[in-house]
Amino acid sequence: MMNQNESKNESKEMKINPLSMYFDLQNGLCPGKKSTVRYLSNMKGMFADEIALSEMVKKNDAVIYEFYELGIPQTSGDLLFGTSIVYPGKVGNEYFMTKGHFHTILDTAEVYYCLSGIGYMLMEDPEGNWDAQEMIPGKAVYVPKSWAHRSVNTGHEPLITFFVFRADAGHDYGTIETKGYRKLIVEESGKTKIVDNAKWK
Ligand code: NI
Repeated sequence: MMNQNESKNESKEMKINPLSMYFDLQNGLCPGKKSTVRYLSNMKGMFADEIALSEMVKKNDAVIYEFYELGIPQTSGDLLFGTSIVYPGKVGNEYFMTKGHFHTILDTAEVYYCLSGIGYMLMEDPEGNWDAQEMIPGKAVYVPKSWAHRSVNTGHEPLITFFVFRADAGHDYGTIETKGYRKLIVEESGKTKIVDNAKWK
C-alpha cells in the first residue's frame, strides 16, 4: 500500500517503511520488480557434464533460474526476502539448479518455503557433511548457519521458493565455483538419485 512516507525510502540511514509485495503463486514473479536472471551460460563449471552444457548454450542460452533482490538495506537488523524460481530441465543427466552459495557471514541461517514445484535443497558444510531436504509445496526448509545451499528442480514445473535471511549476510559463490558440491542430483533410469561428485575437491 502506498503511504505518505514512501518518498523517504532512500533516506541516508536507509530506513524503510512497512511494505508488502505480491509474488505470483503460479510463476513466482513479482510484477514490476526486476529479477536477477541466470542463463545457462552463467553456469560454466557448475555441472558435471561440461560438454552437454556448452552444446545447450550454443543452441539456446535459456534462463535456468531467477531470483529477487528487492532493494532492502543490507544492514544487520534487516531481512532480505524474495522468491527464487528454478526452471525445469537437465544438463546431461543432472537437474537444473542454482549455483549455490555460502553466506559471506558464514554464521547466517536461512529459511526457504516451497510455493510450487518439486525438488531438493542440497546443503553441505565446510567439514564435508551434506544433506538434501525434499521441497514440495507447503514445505519449509531451514538452512542452518554455515551450510552452503542450492535449490535443485527435479520436476517438470518451475520450482518456486520464498526465502528470508539476514540482510547483511552477503553471498559467497566463489567457494562453490572453485570446489564444487560434494553431491549431485541426477536422473538415472527415470528416477531421481543423489550421487557423489567425482570432481569435488
Ligand atoms: Ni543464502
